[in-house]
Amino acid sequence: MADEPLVLGIETSCDETGVGIVRGTTLLADAVASSVNDHARFGGVVPEIASRAHLEAMVPTIQRALDTAGVKASDLDGIAVTAGPGLAGALLVGVSAAKAYAWALDKPLYGVNHLASHICVDQLEHGRLPEPTMALLVSGGHSSLLLSGDITTDVRPLGATIDDAAGEAFDKVARVLGLGFPGGPVVDRMAREGDGKAIAFPRGLSSASDPAYDFSFSGLKTAVARWVEAKRRAGETVPVADVAASFQEAVTDVLTRKAVRACKDNGVDHLMIGGGVAANSRLREMAQQRCDKAGIVLRVPRPGLCTDNGAMVAALGSEMVWRNRTPSSFDLSADSSLPVTETHVPGEHGDFHAHAHEALK
Ligand code: KG4
Ligand code: ZN
Repeated sequence: MADEPLVLGIETSCDETGVGIVRGTTLLADAVASSVNDHARFGGVVPEIASRAHLEAMVPTIQRALDTAGVKASDLDGIAVTAGPGLAGALLVGVSAAKAYAWALDKPLYGVNHLASHICVDQLEHGRLPEPTMALLVSGGHSSLLLSGDITTDVRPLGATIDDAAGEAFDKVARVLGLGFPGGPVVDRMAREGDGKAIAFPRGLSSASDPAYDFSFSGLKTAVARWVEAKRRAGETVPVADVAASFQEAVTDVLTRKAVRACKDNGVDHLMIGGGVAANSRLREMAQQRCDKAGIVLRVPRPGLCTDNGAMVAALGSEMVWRNRTPSSFDLSADSSLPVTETHVPGEHGDFHAHAHEALK
């Protein structure tokens, strides 16, 4: 095996059909087909629509990735796929496609964890992750602080949201302000015109007696909705930019404070931020300021690698091959609630192909 494995990764846990191709820690292709516009009128992702869109986009997206990378499918050293967590039906499309390609091409298959992939993607931009690295993962489905060692085997949860995910809060506040879906990018844009100190919105779970590494955004979301409602009832104009900026300030303040604290408490001097909300400009700015002050090295992938994509799955798959991890077997299944500690799903029935041959006898 070459020491720079060539791996194709498939991601279908939510509304993005992502196919990435990676050689070692070098990104060769990152093809994404998103069904986000099909969900916009529902104000959130509709699982059945996402699954169907994955099915339609899968083969062309794989072909596009292979063309962009300029590699032949037969040259691949492995196929990686998000096995969970995520939407069950959506995951199933990716897992089935990955199995079909692995079977047809006679390649090892690696079912990997979506969250570990969000961390590992940073290797494509900043080189191999130091061990340990603290990871703040903030997306539409997750907000977690994770301590990672060897990313193929060792991801430990320190804390998570007890209610809404950070991205979910952005999406709900955008809806209250009539800004459309998904909310993050538009709130980010509006906030640039506003004053983050204009309104003192609450910082959840931030008193001394609260759990240090857990998050809560539901109270903040409600506070924003009440504030906006009161203005409207009084017949006053809602200062949308100030609301967006003040809400964003509350979210980023809590996220960065807890992340830096987790690093200090655990003696970790590298922090990575991943997931869709890591695309937020204020979060990136505040995290940089606070990390600089605390002597922590901050690693944040570029926005396109923070949101769901196939490159992150390929990045973790490539690491699995490089570190000689056991491939998944033929009976790999999608697990919508795959625990974060399960970085990958090694086969219990030995090698994928050996088991497939056995099953087909
Ligand atoms: O990681 P991701 O693409 O999908 C999930 O796994 O959820 O994250 C999507 C989330 C959405 O809630 C979206 O509003 C949020 O990331 N998001 C942002 C920004 N860009 C995307 N939130 C804040 N600021 C942004 N610039
Ligand atoms: Zn994600």
